[in-house]
Amino acid sequence: MGNERGNWGSNLGFLLAAIGSAVGLGNIWGFPYKMGKSGGFAFLLIYVLLAVFVGFVILMAELAMGRKTGQGTVGAYHALSQKFKWVGWLAVFSPFVIMSFYSVLGGYCIEYMSLNLSNLAFAGAEIQTGADLFASMLTNPFGCVMFTLLFMVICCLINRGGISGGIEKFNKVGMPALFVMLVIIIVRAVTMDGAVEGLKFMFLPGYAVQAGFIAAAPHWTTVLATAGGQMFFSLSLAMGITITYGSYVDKGQSLVKNAGIVVIADTIVAIMAGIAVIPAAVANGIQQGTPLDQIKLGGPSLLFVTLQDVFHAMGPIGPLFGVIFYLLVLVAAISSAIALIEVIATYFLDRAAAKGRPGDRPKVVFWVCVAIMAEAAIVAVDGLGSNGVYVPFQYTLRELGVSANGIVGEFNDCWLDFMDALSEGVAMPLGALLTSLMIGWEIKPKTLLDEIHIGSGAKLDGFFSFCVKFIVPLAMLLILVGQLDTFLHLGIFT
Ligand code: PHE
Repeated sequence: MGNERGNWGSNLGFLLAAIGSAVGLGNIWGFPYKMGKSGGFAFLLIYVLLAVFVGFVILMAELAMGRKTGQGTVGAYHALSQKFKWVGWLAVFSPFVIMSFYSVLGGYCIEYMSLNLSNLAFAGAEIQTGADLFASMLTNPFGCVMFTLLFMVICCLINRGGISGGIEKFNKVGMPALFVMLVIIIVRAVTMDGAVEGLKFMFLPGYAVQAGFIAAAPHWTTVLATAGGQMFFSLSLAMGITITYGSYVDKGQSLVKNAGIVVIADTIVAIMAGIAVIPAAVANGIQQGTPLDQIKLGGPSLLFVTLQDVFHAMGPIGPLFGVIFYLLVLVAAISSAIALIEVIATYFLDRAAAKGRPGDRPKVVFWVCVAIMAEAAIVAVDGLGSNGVYVPFQYTLRELGVSANGIVGEFNDCWLDFMDALSEGVAMPLGALLTSLMIGWEIKPKTLLDEIHIGSGAKLDGFFSFCVKFIVPLAMLLILVGQLDTFLHLGIFT
């Protein structure tokens, strides 16, 4: 391990950073709304199964790839395989694309946190509805660009600090703080009148349909694809992050234990976020007399419209919960964003090291952030399609008649969806599929098992080999088709 790359200060520091990368907007925003869309309990069950049989296995494999080669993503694939060496590029491409919208969403969190802070200070100022606020934010491109920039400046400063001096430090404070804030919000949410309905929605099989939240349960293949996509986005798989972080891990540590802890922590935070968000949204809807099937639990509106309305409805104390909540989401967003930036930065640092030059971290991080800011500005100005900005392929699919039901998919609606389709929809599942094929069939599971056995006596050779050869590729293929189906509205899984 080259020391100019840096190292984790401690295993706890590494763990908190890995958890920080996993815990992000995916958990706090994606999980609750996807669960809302997919009918509650069935989604939860499938999610957990996938996390154990697919997520845990890939996580372990990626950690082993990183530690074995001591290289970031591109270097690790190069060192391990002839046929698949280019896959590492996918894993640098995805984080770069994801950051184009992740940073914009981070900016939105700062805006909403400031909004609640000022509502707290100037109570009584005319309060607008969440929907009006959201629309006025989106149609103000200059503001959105400025707050995206602010978000990027914060991340840039952390990443400049390096592995132990920046990323580890932030997560050591940020992760415990996030947990405490989440507990505060949960206590408030579940004690609201009507919150029980939201809890039943989450944990009682079949309740979503029975109580009339949704008309009919979605097809199980749809739930599987949604839960699968969510699972590996949430665990930051197939994006080089775990490989990169693994390359800084000490040989004495158990990769099995570390991977297990990350999966468990990430899943717990996702479920906790569900308990914080869904019951509150449902309770507020019931209190306002909204019919159950019209309570919005999906999409960006959940976090920035529905919840903002919940905080407004709480009276003078509402903005305080608003500040806590949006700060919590912001911390989660930062901890993931710095992981994404690190993947790209590590690539350049490793490349410099390979040429025998000491990498200049602050300079590399700065330019990576500038490049991200350039693409993020487009997403920010677009404002989820509010400002009439040209979106690539916007109408192509409709003209080609590709979409089965005549609706052009989310893929085409705005820049955020376009970037999301490119990364989460295609590059990530493809990367994961190819990685499992590489490990299972080219370099063979044993290569990584040898690394996994260093520092761990766990007997999981059979489990690991079987999952990596058969279960993971199958699941990934299904997820890839499912994602394409969702993004392009092909109508395969309906
Ligand atoms: N896992 C993060 C989330 O749940 C997102 C992320 C994806 C972070 C990929 C890093 C890498 O939001």
